[in-house]
Amino acid sequence: MTDETPWWQRAVIYQILVRSFFDADGDGVGDLPGLVRKLDYIDTLGVEAVWLSPIFPSPRADAGYDVTDFCGIHPQLGTLQDFDRLVDEAHRRGIRIVIDWPVNHTSDQHPWFEEARSSRDSRHRNWYIWADPNPDGAPPNNWLSVFGGSAWTVDEKTRQCYFHAFLPQQPDLNWREPAVPTAIHDAMRFWLARGVDGFRVDAVDMLLENPDIPDNPPNPSFDPNGPPDAAVFQVHNRSQPGVHECIAALRRVCSEFGDRVLIGEVYTSLDNLVSYYGTPAQPELHLPLNPELLNQCLVAAEIAHALVRYVDAVSPHGWPNWAWNNHDFHRLGSRAKPEQLRVAAMLLLTQRGTPFVYYGEEIGMRDVEVPPELSEDPQGRAQPRRNRDVARTPMQWNDGPNSGFTSGAPFFPVADDYGQINVASQERDPRSLLAVYRRLIALRKAEPALTDGLQTQFLREAALLFFRRELPDRRLLVVLNMSSDHQVFDFSECGPKARILLSTFLDREDVSSDQEVCLRGYEGLILALE
Ligand code: GLC
Repeated sequence: MTDETPWWQRAVIYQILVRSFFDADGDGVGDLPGLVRKLDYIDTLGVEAVWLSPIFPSPRADAGYDVTDFCGIHPQLGTLQDFDRLVDEAHRRGIRIVIDWPVNHTSDQHPWFEEARSSRDSRHRNWYIWADPNPDGAPPNNWLSVFGGSAWTVDEKTRQCYFHAFLPQQPDLNWREPAVPTAIHDAMRFWLARGVDGFRVDAVDMLLENPDIPDNPPNPSFDPNGPPDAAVFQVHNRSQPGVHECIAALRRVCSEFGDRVLIGEVYTSLDNLVSYYGTPAQPELHLPLNPELLNQCLVAAEIAHALVRYVDAVSPHGWPNWAWNNHDFHRLGSRAKPEQLRVAAMLLLTQRGTPFVYYGEEIGMRDVEVPPELSEDPQGRAQPRRNRDVARTPMQWNDGPNSGFTSGAPFFPVADDYGQINVASQERDPRSLLAVYRRLIALRKAEPALTDGLQTQFLREAALLFFRRELPDRRLLVVLNMSSDHQVFDFSECGPKARILLSTFLDREDVSSDQEVCLRGYEGLILALE
């Protein structure tokens, strides 16, 4: 890497749900002016980009992933002027803004769909995917919705079914109709011209479907506790021929505006995931999001396996990326024990690749139960164990009322444990988890070996994971004790002496050792070889 290294390869990207971050106007819902007020906090984390989950007008059948206007702001979150101010204030601090871009589908209340369903020969009819029901009234084929049930819903007025990979309130756009990409590209230019630094394209492998709509083959080993659409193999409605060209076109729109980033959500096999980097002749996503750690608990053997598998698959194709959390999964704070979160932070922030941190992860926020009368998530209604509301609750700022999130009544409950788990108390404690995140991110900036350096293959010795990060003139060792017991790590094969740059306990920097170091339970160390 050189000074030409693109910003998104060095940055840590912080994912924020604006509604859940900070409420400036006291209506109980976080908003863009609230986010502007918290930019200094984001700056102190050292992150260089934020990814905002959808900010557009939406009836919120699926938490804003059902958009009625791709060029507007949801009124509860603020106005376009508030957004412009956010971009200015963020850029002034060197923080980039990436926005979520759910363009596989729209809301059923989008004017395009309302017009499309008004008659079979309406102007926007072909912007969506229509098929006749079977003569007995059954859906046109066996395709299933991600949230359960058929992926087809009958439109009573025009007596045809429309396709929706997600809810019936989220009709899929027909990306084979040339007017659709044209409209989406124009909407991207609208945001790029406002200074947006990139997009996280939602469900990007799902843009196209097989136009002949053949049945999908049934999955004989279907697990009813998993995603309901896995009852069939999605061979005809995921990763279809032509989708790579669609994504390459999105990338070209970004490129018109310089060094913007194109991130995409793809849940698929690793072999297929890497195809979404595209080729040198036809580049696609800068960062196809890495799904490998999102369900993991901190079991050494499983983590090592997941890391090796991902690195082996991705390295020849493109720049890796890493995340423990996002808005669709249980929080790591609930998947792991509190004492494991420091070593998890070190693992995330020392990998070669772009790390993503989900709001509240840096203070160890946990899932929060949302009572049925407040719950929003359609997935959770169908499958309580897969409820996503639990990971979307208000940011815990301090130990005051509502944890300082709002002066009103919060739209979702604030965690019961906010008296202990909050930003203010961790800022007072120089050895808090928050301090660990800040120190790790600062060290990434100070030590180019951590961002730009090569990474040796991940190695595992019983409960220890370790790897090297190195540049020609700097060799670092990262050693992670994934167990609760003390572990001795012998580094003599790498060099005679090593100095501790950072311990996850933040209590023994600058100590030099000969040949070996002893790690306490769940301790992680970054060592510089001398
Ligand atoms: C993506 C989003 C998820 C949403 C779905 C439908 O998977 O991450 O939250 O429900 O797309 O838009």
